[in-house]
Amino acid sequence: MSLLVDNIGELFTADEEHGVRNDAALVADGGAVVWIGPAAEAPAADERLDAAGRAVVPGFVDSHAHLVFAGDRTAEFAARMSGEPYTGGGIRTTVTASRRASDDELRATCARLTAEMLRQGTTTVEIKSGYGLTVADEARQLRIAGEFTGETTFLGAHTVPAATDAEEYVDLVCGEMLDACAPHAKWVDVFCERGAFDGDQARRVLTAGAEAGLSPRVHANQLTAGPGVRLAVELGAASADHCTHLSDADVDALASGSTVATLLPGAEFSTRSPYPDARRLIDAGAAVALATDCNPGSSFTSSMAFCIALAVREMGMTPTEAVAAATAGGAKALRRDDVGRLAIGARADLAVLDAPSHAHLAYRPGTPLVTAVVRGGTVVHQEP
Ligand code: NIG
Ligand code: FE
Repeated sequence: MSLLVDNIGELFTADEEHGVRNDAALVADGGAVVWIGPAAEAPAADERLDAAGRAVVPGFVDSHAHLVFAGDRTAEFAARMSGEPYTGGGIRTTVTASRRASDDELRATCARLTAEMLRQGTTTVEIKSGYGLTVADEARQLRIAGEFTGETTFLGAHTVPAATDAEEYVDLVCGEMLDACAPHAKWVDVFCERGAFDGDQARRVLTAGAEAGLSPRVHANQLTAGPGVRLAVELGAASADHCTHLSDADVDALASGSTVATLLPGAEFSTRSPYPDARRLIDAGAAVALATDCNPGSSFTSSMAFCIALAVREMGMTPTEAVAAATAGGAKALRRDDVGRLAIGARADLAVLDAPSHAHLAYRPGTPLVTAVVRGGTVVHQEP
């Protein structure tokens, strides 16, 4: 079944060859983009989606999310807004609730949040484990995550469980837990942070994961300027996530390596913390992605548009840079070239905005602009 998306006022492709085009059309067939050109020359197709002069962007690639959880941390958020700091300690609250939850309860939360994301234009999402912290619970969370995405990440090293020796826990993560989780995961991640895992422990987790066939990505430099970013670059990780507290050496490492700096401004918003400096990273030559970090503790948003608006207002990005970081940037952070851009052969994932330009994603913050979503060449959401 082919699909013609016609009358596109502005087509933001996030692709070097196609750039930004006005009065464009796009044809999808077999799930992929097969034609991009002027609306006046658009060929016929089995189905037609009339963009009515609106802007079209690639489907967002949310490359960092924690969606398999149970429980509620509203009170923790409210306490922070009254001046309490965020330390990551609340992870254990979610672990306790998630261990108690049934598979169906965890699955229902994941389904609700991925549906919420899709309606807002997110067509690719990465989902981490990390709220189980036992062999059985981590494997269970990854099995459930795998029902919703191919981009699954083993985050057994999210925090050290209560009353547990950190070194012994790292032994477990690198041994029996990894054995149980590797078949269900594509990536391995670690929270490298004071109070979580130090540089040596993080190295052990990432190296063991890589030996088990998982590719590394790292929660790095979120709360303090630790060794996470340099470790990520040294190990050739696809992404160093957060990157809030960076030394000049960290920025140089990101600029010279192949690791994407994934910025998660929802976390700074929800923890009332200083935002990462995207301008400094981009000017140094680092590749930047934006993602939601959707989780019940530090960033309970599923909105990539909200992250784009924050990145533009608070982190020195231009609207064009921010939308590119939320699409092509996210794809790069997942080492994917079939999503996050609209080009011949790429997956036909796109969002139609009720706006004349992609810049409105930042210019009209808090306004739900996505009116239609296409994934794999099929219209999967359309506002009435
Ligand atoms: O990315 N930093 C560690 N993990 C999550 C927070 C998880 C939580 O607070 O529950 C993050 O911010
Ligand atoms: Fe996270």
